[in-house]
Amino acid sequence: MKIAMLASECVPYVKSGGLADVIGALPNALKQLGHDVIIILPKYRTLKTPQPLKLRLSPLGVWMGNKQEWCAAYSTETEAGVPVYFIEFNAYFDREGLYHDAEFNDYGDNPRRFGFFTRAALQLCKDIGFAPDIVHAHDWQTALAPAYLKIWHWNDLHLGRAAGVLTIHNIGYQGVYGAEHYEYLGLQWQNFTSDKFEDHGRINFLKGGIHYADFVTTVSPTYARETRTPEYAHGMAPYLNDKGDRYVGILNGVDYSRWNPETDALIPANYSADDLSGKAACKRALQEHFLLETNPRVPVIGVVSRMAHQKGLDLLAQTIESIVREMVVQFVILGSGDKSLEAYYGSLPARYPGVIGSYIGYNNELAHWIEAGADFFVMPSRYEPCGLNQIYSLRYGTLPIVRATGGLEDTVEQYDEASGAGTGFKFLAATPQAIHDTVGWAVSTYYDRPAHHQAMIRRAMSRRFTWERSARAYLEVYRRALASR
Ligand code: ADP
Ligand code: GLC
Repeated sequence: MKIAMLASECVPYVKSGGLADVIGALPNALKQLGHDVIIILPKYRTLKTPQPLKLRLSPLGVWMGNKQEWCAAYSTETEAGVPVYFIEFNAYFDREGLYHDAEFNDYGDNPRRFGFFTRAALQLCKDIGFAPDIVHAHDWQTALAPAYLKIWHWNDLHLGRAAGVLTIHNIGYQGVYGAEHYEYLGLQWQNFTSDKFEDHGRINFLKGGIHYADFVTTVSPTYARETRTPEYAHGMAPYLNDKGDRYVGILNGVDYSRWNPETDALIPANYSADDLSGKAACKRALQEHFLLETNPRVPVIGVVSRMAHQKGLDLLAQTIESIVREMVVQFVILGSGDKSLEAYYGSLPARYPGVIGSYIGYNNELAHWIEAGADFFVMPSRYEPCGLNQIYSLRYGTLPIVRATGGLEDTVEQYDEASGAGTGFKFLAATPQAIHDTVGWAVSTYYDRPAHHQAMIRRAMSRRFTWERSARAYLEVYRRALASR
């Protein structure tokens, strides 16, 4: 099959969250199964490209409303040989941030930026003669792709056969903007209706994408079920339910070439389930780095997270101080986002010296250090479409403490105190008390049932969430999308 993957992030070039990990891995896995995939991304100022980019096409003309914009396309290849194209349009992408400025203010022209990018990506397919069977869009940023296919390209030589698949990585971000941008997006006014793009007088990218996609997926089976209900769907439940069996959840995989304690070049020492001495060295290095008491017998609890409402770090904030007063534990927290949470977590090391360490910012190497050096990893998410950190944690023998929602529910097996089974600790209520009690349960397992704890580490490290398995599930979706288009 020929697949064009359109996204706004992809490791190793540009990343703000888990979407980048997915786009950095799924196309390679599809290629390894014998399929012909290309990735198309915006050419941001902050791209990190291991190889220099080659100019591939210039100029590339893109119709936006009744105006033609002129841009260019560059290309490179992933390690696995998947072609990656970058759309260059400096007026939109030569900026400091991806979606917002340094103060986390959304760029006001985001609808134009990503609507343009999506149309340019489809035009690129035509101009380079790539005739996809599947155009696979991700999140609101490229959600207009299935709509453009149906509105403009249904009769094209190159795009006319393509089915549109939309993957929702986070329904909390829908791309809702003022109607003044509608003309520029070229979606035609007869489609500005409440079953398609219109949302209380504004434009909703994700809603339109759901309507026009031949198939919609999200990133775990539990989140697919949750988002069919009003509590989790941020208003999208009716539209997702309308898709019937053309809306499913496929669990993300892990790129074990990047996240594997046996080979990870970023961590202080490598280790395996058979020999955990390297993990002890990683713990010591982590404690030293964060100025914690370097005591191997005190459990370290790690956090690596965007500081957003979704992630529940405000709930943790309401209980972390009583946890460290009542229990002999240490915390290491890495994250950025919400300014008041940044200020709070940034202030803890000074108030609890030797007990709590934190780093406010984005730092990939430290993320690996925490996965490797901590004993437990906490994710108190209000909702979590998939979540990758808890799956990385399993591989690093760092037992997850998670709220049983979305992908957290699907990837972590609950500890059973009677038998010792399980790979982590789960709770249901999104409350500080539930976090407190479950951390207490994990900590008491560490101190009082060390044989269980050791067996859980080895069990967690043996679990595999391969991209090959996920890629096969996407191929099945692609076949069904083609059949139903
Ligand atoms: P989300 O995409 O909702 O943020 P995921 O768990 O799917 O959540 O993915 C988050 C990814 O971003 C992980 O690879 C994690 O290591 C990384 N990450 C998040 N915050 C930071 C940070 N402050 N520094 C480094 N990496 C981070
Ligand atoms: C989103 C979700 C996260 C998921 C990631 C990759 O950012 O918040 O749960 O793992 O996308 O699919």
